[in-house]
Amino acid sequence: TRPFQVAIDGPAASGKSTTAKMVAQRLGFSYIDTGAFYRCVTFAALSEGIDPSHLSNADKITALAEKLDIELQTVFSEKPDSYNRTTSDWNSASDASRQHQLPTTRVFLDSKDVSSDIRTGTVSKHVSAVAAIGPVREAVLQKVRNIGATDVEAQTNNGINSSARSRAAGLVMDGRDIGTVVLPLADLKVFLVADSHVRAKRRLQELVKNGADPSIDDTHLNLHAVQADLELRDEMDRTRKISPLRRAVDAMDLDTSNLTLEQQVDIIVQEVHRRR
Ligand code: C5P
Repeated sequence: TRPFQVAIDGPAASGKSTTAKMVAQRLGFSYIDTGAFYRCVTFAALSEGIDPSHLSNADKITALAEKLDIELQTVFSEKPDSYNRTTSDWNSASDASRQHQLPTTRVFLDSKDVSSDIRTGTVSKHVSAVAAIGPVREAVLQKVRNIGATDVEAQTNNGINSSARSRAAGLVMDGRDIGTVVLPLADLKVFLVADSHVRAKRRLQELVKNGADPSIDDTHLNLHAVQADLELRDEMDRTRKISPLRRAVDAMDLDTSNLTLEQQVDIIVQEVHRRR
């Protein structure tokens, strides 16, 4: 039997990846961050001086997407439940993350750790243009599906998952087109939404947590600028021709504007138990 598949989609900074990782941890499932693939292709293009905003570069970017070797490693915490007992909001969730209670994903591009390189403002600004290139999406789709098929065992074999786990019984994948295109037969599809002001606040918190200094007058660190960036990226993701950000008809809606991280994780975990 195939592993239980959970598809989580939603706009930028809706909490998809944190939620997806926590759900995977609670259930002993493996986790795949598909946005990381588009970010890697974007980072590689920018590193080679290729401007993703020029349509004429689509072929070069596609060639990169096809040849790049991208690997994800998610490290799950040994004591997942301690998170539940000690934290109640996104702020303390960040503290929990620093104390390694939240799972973390490292991203390797041609064996080099690019986990932080792919999260810069420059990459975020260009990633939607890269993700709108049809053949790039096809290349990423192939890679992601391959990982989805092999990951469940691979992750447990190389000791990345908690040692108590012998074999992951499922898979959590997050992105923009997981429920509609990547895993159209997923056992549970979740469409996460949150007010863009709330999302901007969370993203800003995350930037600061990662070492950015909001007292410096950097446009990226101003709440309005962050919100405008998110809204622009959502607009590009929603209106592109191929695989736009769209709610699957059979998805469960989850508005996280007024939910804590642990509440939204609980809702999804309960739904998985109900359907399994
Ligand atoms: O999830 P994250 O914000 O890292 O995704 C970065 C970008 O990658 C998104 O803005 C979107 O353009 C693209 N993406 C996509 N399809 C996915 C995941 C991400 O087009 N499944």
